[in-house]
Amino acid sequence: MSAAGEAWLSEQRQRVEETLASIIDGLTSPDCPERLRRAMRYSLEGGGKRLRPLLCLAALRAAGGTHPRAVEAACSLELLHTYSLIHDDLPAMDDDELRRGRPTCHRAFDEGLAILAGDGLLTLAFEVLARAAGPELAGEATLLLSAAAGPAGLVGGQADDLTPMTQAPTIAEVESIHRRKTGALMRAALGLGGLLAHAPESSRIALQKFGEALGLAFQIADDCLAESGDARTLGKDPRTDRERGRRTHPLAAGLEDSRRRGEELLAEAEAALAQLPGLTDALSSILAKVKKRLRP
Ligand code: IPE
Ligand code: IPE
Ligand code: MG
Ligand code: MG
Repeated sequence: MSAAGEAWLSEQRQRVEETLASIIDGLTSPDCPERLRRAMRYSLEGGGKRLRPLLCLAALRAAGGTHPRAVEAACSLELLHTYSLIHDDLPAMDDDELRRGRPTCHRAFDEGLAILAGDGLLTLAFEVLARAAGPELAGEATLLLSAAAGPAGLVGGQADDLTPMTQAPTIAEVESIHRRKTGALMRAALGLGGLLAHAPESSRIALQKFGEALGLAFQIADDCLAESGDARTLGKDPRTDRERGRRTHPLAAGLEDSRRRGEELLAEAEAALAQLPGLTDALSSILAKVKKRLRP
């Protein structure tokens, strides 16, 4: 992990935190109920890694570009991701009590408000993105995010994840779910970085390859962590995947083969970095962190 990449990431993380806070503080219309705003803020706060906005900003850096409102645009990914966590934790889905080290949104508030806080963050994500991307890029940026988040992406993966499991899943089935429920938004984060950078086709292809491999490896690592991690370090309850009969990668492949598969994907992601013209130190640092999650 390079010191320069780490320092850059920690600076960007700070900017992301400040921008997220100002987005929520900026919802001052009397038509936005205070309770709803509190529930949205509650879920946004509390120790998220901010991986998706950081991936977007790191992609912009690796593509060698800049954009005046990049941080704001990148924050749309965190708004959308947080909505997906709120809904994922609901009693009708994973029925979890702990998220980011605190009671889940429906536990801290109530179920109806948690659903609406998720809806609020999802829609706000598109508003923030369209404004930040500006008239020239808003259309393409919105298409990119909606395709990743929609029925053929995150929502589709979540729907398949929810269908009752009647037999042990195959590796291909698990990976198809993981590519959509988690990978699609990460790929979009890289894609958005490339778009904001006005990157040439060759860079966009490299970013896409990186995102594809890293996104899948990230969810595999998350599944592996759930086998060995504890609630205190994870900030969420690791036992519920198994209790709810979820299709995890280690269930299909065994823990060691899942770890190896994750490492193979990360090697693919690393190879894609060589095709990028800008500074790839931050993307390398993120990659190294995901690698560490595979074998904590
Ligand atoms: C958790 O994502 C849900 C998955 C897609 C595995 P993160 O591990 O990025 O969660 P936060 O944002 O840091 O809380
Ligand atoms: C979360 O998947 C994916 C989304 C929220 C889209 P999981 O249900 O496997 O993740 P955790 O364990 O609750 O974070
Ligand atoms: Mg789930
Ligand atoms: Mg869950």
